[in-house]
Amino acid sequence: MNVNFGQVAISPRRFKYLLIQMSLILFTASAMICLLASVVFLLNPQPGYSLPNSLQQILPAYLQTNHHGWGLEPAYQDASNCPDQKGEWNILYHLGGNGPWVEKVDAVLEGGIQVPDGCEVDMAHMMSRHGERFPTKKAGARMITLLGRIKSSGAELKGSLAFLNDWQYFTDSPEKHFEQLITTGPYSGTLEAFTTGVKLRTRYQHLWKKVLDKHTLFWACGCDRVIDTARYFGAGFFGLESKRAELQIVSEDESKAGDTLTPGDTCKNYLEDSELGHDYGYEMLYKYRATYLPAIAQRLEKENPGLQLSDSEIYSMQEMCGFEILVRGNSKWCDVFTRKEWSQFEYARDVIHYYRAGPGNKYGKAMGWLWLNTTANLIAEGPESVGPLYFSFVHDGDIVPMLAALGIFEDTQDLPIDEIMEDRKWKTSQITPMGGRIIFERLSCTPKSKSTEKEIFVRFNVNDGIVPLEGCADGPGKSCSLNDFLEYVKRRGEIAGDFRKLCGLAHDAPDRPTFLRQPYSDNVVAVAEDREVKDDKPKKLRFWGSR
Ligand SMILES: *[C@@H]1O[C@H](CO)[C@@H](O)[C@H](O)[C@H]1NC(C)=O
Repeated sequence: MNVNFGQVAISPRRFKYLLIQMSLILFTASAMICLLASVVFLLNPQPGYSLPNSLQQILPAYLQTNHHGWGLEPAYQDASNCPDQKGEWNILYHLGGNGPWVEKVDAVLEGGIQVPDGCEVDMAHMMSRHGERFPTKKAGARMITLLGRIKSSGAELKGSLAFLNDWQYFTDSPEKHFEQLITTGPYSGTLEAFTTGVKLRTRYQHLWKKVLDKHTLFWACGCDRVIDTARYFGAGFFGLESKRAELQIVSEDESKAGDTLTPGDTCKNYLEDSELGHDYGYEMLYKYRATYLPAIAQRLEKENPGLQLSDSEIYSMQEMCGFEILVRGNSKWCDVFTRKEWSQFEYARDVIHYYRAGPGNKYGKAMGWLWLNTTANLIAEGPESVGPLYFSFVHDGDIVPMLAALGIFEDTQDLPIDEIMEDRKWKTSQITPMGGRIIFERLSCTPKSKSTEKEIFVRFNVNDGIVPLEGCADGPGKSCSLNDFLEYVKRRGEIAGDFRKLCGLAHDAPDRPTFLRQPYSDNVVAVAEDREVKDDKPKKLRFWGSR
């Protein structure tokens, strides 16, 4: 082939042909760009205030074409032309669990979730929150009451609230929608759950292949939005045709005691102790709230003489920013508050979780240790005997205690309620956003010494950021060696205290999750079947089936 272009004579016919070819290519390329742009536009027609405004960044993280989190080879990870905007202020990182799923960026290992050289993930244990949902009944009712009160005053609103004069609440069927997954828009919980399924399928397909001929269980606590999330996830991970995977629903009934995914519903003392139990989080929230909300009320009241707003009402307004973003992709409510006020709201949400079931609650660690202990035991037994994949779907109120038990976001002091503790580890926005998930990955690594014996480590993926465990991070990629991990969990169990005793349950009440085990495991402990179950038996269904 003659490569010397200078000497190639191009005939007019060939020239014409080349021109046509080139215009065709140009045409196709521009058509593709147009198509892409319209898809992006359709998904989010009004890039709202405070959402970063490059084309890429207005999409939910899981649709962006930077490939963080997909577990791809580094070459593909860097394929994005998009500047890294992680340093930029982003409202989604200040919504305190009321916002869409976001990656953890604070205090995570550099280099992302890439598996360390010489290692392979041989087990994955996930605990995931349900996907993006509408407000709960209580929070939603507070919003509606507030809006009704403002409307019925008949006054025209001015200043930062002027938009309210022709603003509609983000659902016209609250009774139907409250508590449920959001099913429309770029941040719908259904889309996010499905995408997560596909994302993890990409990451763990080698594990799924190993159990294709077996019957694999995954679990959800007995609540619609959690079950729906698990089913959409299942469709993404296992596929529609899989007859190999089955969703098992674990009752939230209090009679389940320790044999539960939702210890916050079964720990009697936690529910009844009105001082330091479940309500403690609210007590602390109210106290912190009082330090910053009155100033906001004053500002808004000055703009609208005659209007009077309580702490709880301003807090509801801040909550509406997150929920409206979930439903509509953007929200005018976000504009009402300054960045400083957003960091105060963010901290308020940290305070409630920290004290409601987290590190600051005396029952939190014991409740969370149930799943942690069972999972640590499974990790010790290994994938050959108990299988490689464990997916559990729950509420944030169940993940928070597990993290408290693990002590992974333990701060040097309890969160103060008179001022923001800036350097805290406990940041709800990045720990339990909607769809928030923690994955324990067991790593099987070939040691440098070239001995054939594999070494086992465990690492912690929190919303696709690897978080080292303090005091146990000297393995590859800051992972924790298996033996150290087991020792560590045991020690945490001693700190947590005995679940039954602490919770005021009978000494023979179930004290651990027995269902969390693949049916094909060695030595299946048939505890679940033997025990007399007072309420309904765990209901079983396939994720694609009807309920
Ligand atoms: C889990 O709990 C059981 C029973 O209390 C205990 O024997 C076991 O050592 C615990 N495992 C870990 C890893 O802490």
